[in-house]
Amino acid sequence: MNNVINVIDREGEKHILEWEPDQSLMESLRDNDLPVMASCGGTASCATCHIFLDRDVVVSLGERSEDELELLVETECYDESSSRLSCQVRHDPSLNGLNVVLAPEE
Ligand code: FES
Repeated sequence: MNNVINVIDREGEKHILEWEPDQSLMESLRDNDLPVMASCGGTASCATCHIFLDRDVVVSLGERSEDELELLVETECYDESSSRLSCQVRHDPSLNGLNVVLAPEE
């Protein structure tokens, strides 16, 4: 079953999207024409897919990988409690209704 996600873009506009089970969160954003460059293709090496999630969701997702954390802390708007790379977030039915905010472009 697809998840429905709520996305706030960089202009503050809200988008309601479907997130298919075989996609990373980045792929869902990109396939729905949101401005997520994803120039590394999802290998946790570009940080252009940086997003903010609710704090409790970040906790529930568990530890970020070393590669992800290294990239995130180098971004200007890194927020320990809410930053994630959307390419590293896999679909899960428990994430239905997820709130996503696109991080500013760097
Ligand atoms: S797509 Fe490059 S870090 Fe996520």
